[in-house]
Amino acid sequence: MTIRLLQATEAAARLDELCEVLWGCVTEGASIGFTERDNPQPVRHFWQQQLPALAAGDKHLLVAEQEGKVVATVMLVTAMPPNGLHRAEVCKLLVHPTARRTGLARQLMQRVEALAQSHQRELLVLDTRVGDAASALYDSLGWQESGTIPAYALSVTGERDATRIMYKMLPRLEATADQEQSTG
Ligand SMILES: CC(C)(COP(=O)(O)OP(=O)(O)OC[C@H]1O[C@@H](n2cnc3c(N)ncnc32)[C@H](O)[C@@H]1OP(=O)(O)O)[C@@H](O)C(=O)NCCC(=O)NCCS
Repeated sequence: MTIRLLQATEAAARLDELCEVLWGCVTEGASIGFTERDNPQPVRHFWQQQLPALAAGDKHLLVAEQEGKVVATVMLVTAMPPNGLHRAEVCKLLVHPTARRTGLARQLMQRVEALAQSHQRELLVLDTRVGDAASALYDSLGWQESGTIPAYALSVTGERDATRIMYKMLPRLEATADQEQSTG
């Protein structure tokens, strides 16, 4: 298993693999932005929409590969307003259902923290559905809950689910983004 950054051109070439991971999570009911379990088109559209942001360096995509195939992802959003250049958002932590419980998500979260530090980010934020498996992972990695919002997001079954808003403060590192890339 390897974890590495996927640049925009490679993400474009490997769109089918990225879609398979995201679609696998949507169809098993994950709360990750999508509400339709019978229409994969929004999932494809999502990844296509990410390509310009990846090319611009506004977002950064880490993938875990097994036998050369993408089986898990996490994204770091570094495009922030001028008063937020010390922070970044973590999103789309996705592990294909067939690759779960082998520590991939934990490793991806550790790598995304290192990536954030290499971009001089000291504060990470994310949100996650109350009660999901991901919550235990974030708690165990030292993320703090700033609060919950009831009825935040529609689930694939139509309920309005509560979400946890979480953050993690990171120690400041002087490493550059290029250094992280070269270790990728
Ligand atoms: C949440 C998710 C990313 C975990 O991926 P994973 O690779 O299976 O997780 P790991 O094997 O690295 O496990 C890390 C920790 O997560 C927690 N965890 C993972 N799956 C769990 C489950 N089914 N039930 C309870 N806790 C679970 C545990 O705390 C685990 O630590 P442990 O193995 O020491 O007990 C994966 O289930 C997933 O993709 N879910 C759908 C998408 C999603 O909800 N993403 C998060 C969006 S905020």
